[in-house]
Amino acid sequence: MRRLALTFLALPLVLRAAPGVPWCYDSQDLKCGPRYWKDLAAGCGGDNQSPINIDRRKVQRDRNLGDVLFEGYDQAPPGKWRLMNNGHTVVMRLEGVSVSEHINITIGVLHEKYRALQFHFHWGNLKGNGSEHTIDGHQFPMELHLVHMNTKYKTFNEAKGHPNGLAVLGFLYKVSNADNSNYNTIVAGLKNISHQGDFVDLASTFCLNNLLPSMAKLSKYYRYQGSLTTPDCAEVVVWTLFEEPIPISQSQLNAFVNTVHFPANGTGTSLVKMTNNFRPPQPLKNRKVSASRDATISRSAMPSVGLPLLPLLLALQIVHFSGPS
Ligand SMILES: *[C@@H]1O[C@H](CO)[C@@H](O)[C@H](O)[C@H]1NC(C)=O
Ligand SMILES: *[C@@H]1O[C@H](CO)[C@@H](O)[C@H](O)[C@H]1NC(C)=O
Ligand SMILES: *[C@@H]1O[C@H](CO)[C@@H](O)[C@H](O)[C@H]1NC(C)=O
Ligand SMILES: *[C@@H]1O[C@H](CO)[C@@H](O)[C@H](O)[C@H]1NC(C)=O
Ligand SMILES: [Zn+2]
Repeated sequence: MRRLALTFLALPLVLRAAPGVPWCYDSQDLKCGPRYWKDLAAGCGGDNQSPINIDRRKVQRDRNLGDVLFEGYDQAPPGKWRLMNNGHTVVMRLEGVSVSEHINITIGVLHEKYRALQFHFHWGNLKGNGSEHTIDGHQFPMELHLVHMNTKYKTFNEAKGHPNGLAVLGFLYKVSNADNSNYNTIVAGLKNISHQGDFVDLASTFCLNNLLPSMAKLSKYYRYQGSLTTPDCAEVVVWTLFEEPIPISQSQLNAFVNTVHFPANGTGTSLVKMTNNFRPPQPLKNRKVSASRDATISRSAMPSVGLPLLPLLLALQIVHFSGPS
């Protein structure tokens, strides 16, 4: 019981930077935008930062990357979900749900289980796209992050001490002609969370599946090791970026841009609309990005085996297959 209480107390830390650290986006105030984050939190200057550009010519196919296993994504759990403006984004906190109803994913060769804590969005403005990850240099209109914590750790802070502590599922959006009715609850709720600290408790929960592309399309994804995309930028995130975009209408996108505000960045200054709340892509450095079995890679990304080596490799494979199993 005590352990459970601690876990829930730790949850709000997901949403807020350390008090007194005034980080922001350039659209809110040029003086504390992403280029200054490393001065506010040293971690933001690390070598494994997120987001990144996914260069499909350089990703490496990894046939051992199995599908993400979803548990509870197809149920509306009892309990309370809270939609909130935390001053940097719109976040849905998946709280008040008992252990047996936790929403989980299982990922990776080690089949580690992570439970869902919250999801939130990054978007642009009326004229520009706002995803954090880019694919072949192409930015998308908006990005969804579903944040999960490794169930082998007891608290969020403990998870943040390990490179596999968190797993974030990232989804990109594309503009569709029709509204995506599965987003009606969230879009309608934006009106209630216009200012920092505002929140609204949903009358009922819903299936997280409804927010995503159909499950059949989720075998296409990219995987890499990275960080939170906001200070303290902790390098504790196993990233999964799905290739299939989520359709959403222009007017639904515009509702994010037009309805919610950043906190005022000075006394007497008027409120600034929450726009461009994305961090630009960070250097990949020594990391590799893996592509799942079905993910798209560019032709030139095929294994770069020198031609003379190819027959040898084939011969080795034949030996391998004909050997005892
Ligand atoms: C608030 O941010 C706006 C937009 O970046 C900027 O023009 C303004 O100078 C900032 N105000 C203060 C008090 O920093
Ligand atoms: C999520 O995992 C927890 C712990 O293993 C389990 O108790 C719970 O039933 C799982 N949730 C679902 C929906 O299966
Ligand atoms: C923004 O996104 C739209 C829709 O996906 C796309 O057509 C457009 O090329 C993107 N713009 C940039 C600058 O990437
Ligand atoms: C949300 O705002 C609408 C008006 O925009 C209002 O009718 C409704 O009562 C609000 N809901 C909550 C839970 O505050
Ligand atoms: Zn995010």
